[in-house]
Amino acid sequence: MPAAKKSKSKKKRIVIFDTTLRDAEQCPGAAMSIEEKLKVAHQLARLRVDVIEAGFPYSSPGDFEAVQRIAREVKGPTICGLTLCRLEAVDRTAEALKAGRRVRLHAFLSTSPQHREGILRKSKQEVLDMAVSSVERARSQIDEVEFSPMDATRTEFDFLCEIVEATIEAGASIINIPDTLGYAIPDEFGDLIRRLRETVPNIAKATISVHCHDDLGLATANSLAGILNGATQVECTINGLGERAGNAALEEIAVILDTRRELKRRFETGINLKEIYRSSRLLRDVTGIAVQPNKAIVGANAFAHSSGVHVDGVIKLWKRRSTFEIVRPQTIGREKSEIVLTSRSGRKAVRHRLAELGHDLSPEELESTYQRFLALADQRKEVTDDELESLVADELRLTQEIYALDYLHVVSGGTTIPTATVRLRRNGETSQAVSSGVGSVDAVYRAVNQVVNIPHSLVDYTVSSVTGGTDALGEVTVRVSDKSGAVHTGRGSSMDIIEASAKAYVQALNKVVFRVEGHRRQVRKSAKRKRRTTARKKGKRKA
Ligand code: KIV
Ligand code: ZN
Repeated sequence: MPAAKKSKSKKKRIVIFDTTLRDAEQCPGAAMSIEEKLKVAHQLARLRVDVIEAGFPYSSPGDFEAVQRIAREVKGPTICGLTLCRLEAVDRTAEALKAGRRVRLHAFLSTSPQHREGILRKSKQEVLDMAVSSVERARSQIDEVEFSPMDATRTEFDFLCEIVEATIEAGASIINIPDTLGYAIPDEFGDLIRRLRETVPNIAKATISVHCHDDLGLATANSLAGILNGATQVECTINGLGERAGNAALEEIAVILDTRRELKRRFETGINLKEIYRSSRLLRDVTGIAVQPNKAIVGANAFAHSSGVHVDGVIKLWKRRSTFEIVRPQTIGREKSEIVLTSRSGRKAVRHRLAELGHDLSPEELESTYQRFLALADQRKEVTDDELESLVADELRLTQEIYALDYLHVVSGGTTIPTATVRLRRNGETSQAVSSGVGSVDAVYRAVNQVVNIPHSLVDYTVSSVTGGTDALGEVTVRVSDKSGAVHTGRGSSMDIIEASAKAYVQALNKVVFRVEGHRRQVRKSAKRKRRTTARKKGKRKA
């Protein structure tokens, strides 16, 4: 039972109750198939959430089956099913959960005057009776029962205390306080949790949980206020998906508690932070609901820096750890921070990226490359690695110095086996190869490979025509990856598509050669530097 789990450390253990498969699944466009729900549930188990709210079994046969299968197949977290406070709904939910080893039944009922009068058309006493009888019925079948007074933040405080006390008495061991409409603000919500703890006589017998919606953008802040005032369970979802504007985002809650030192000293979760990013991507892929780029923790831009001052700080950070990042991307299972090169990135960022790509330029070469970078960046939003590589290659005129297409002859058509003769020039010397292939382009590429002979693989080959008509200028784009996985693009255009293909391929391979030989140059340089330093040290010792 996670709610009662004792931690050896003195920190307060915050139970993470994930409702992605229930509250988030209710949001438009997020419906998932049973197989998809299982996939998400297995990932939530890897993320080590304490509780998975797997669905609402009474609402549909599909939800029933999903909860049943998740309860049966997903090991680790407690599996929870949501139910209305109606006896037949409670029974059906208990039936779905029966297959699981660690299960929880979650009963909810609206308690605010607006909902009592507008939706339920019941008196306070009737609502109280429904809640109590449902919790008792649930407890007769399932050991762990949670009760949620829905729209708690708009419920009269006295009635809220009354129903919380009565449901604990009836056997609920978790009391969840939902801010159903996302109307609360942090001070007020924190205060509500504190007052409940101070007022309800048997509250110590239950875990207090919070469930905040994001209609005013305060779901995470309100949840945190709840924790600071004694709540020990937080209900949340991956990417903050949920009804309307969503729920508190699991990734935000977990990372806040891990990042702020004063919070980390007092609280802990069982979350495996390294699985956060993977969980976010999976949910995005399964639901097709994109994550906004500036979303905290998991958004595409959450660790991307482009302004010169920030980039400079981040480069230093990679050496020392401080300045412009409060969370390391690796903490949540992302690659290291990304530097997006724009016209505002500055020389240091460009030099840093070039060094990462294996280019050790002289100050003059760097300055000239930087000026060319600025001209390009002014026309584009971002300059990619590939474009940067081309700038360097042009700067050093290495593309031309490596391989150039000197001669091409292709025989194909009808029953002929396509055969290509290719001659390439490097440093004034030519090398020739002949090869057959399954098609003309294949034959040409095989012949080129015999001459260039460098490990790589073809990632992509596309043909487009630049102008219309049969005399159109064809443009070929080829992408190849080198041994390190870096991708290099080559482009070639010609009225003859085979020639355009050959040019594009040779250009892409030139970049691979440039990179590999650049690395070798660097390795040689640093070995030379090392030898010089060792010799200097030896000389000093002798002296
Ligand atoms: O927002 C809400 O009140 C809910 C309840 C079912 C807990 O989702
Ligand atoms: Zn909700």
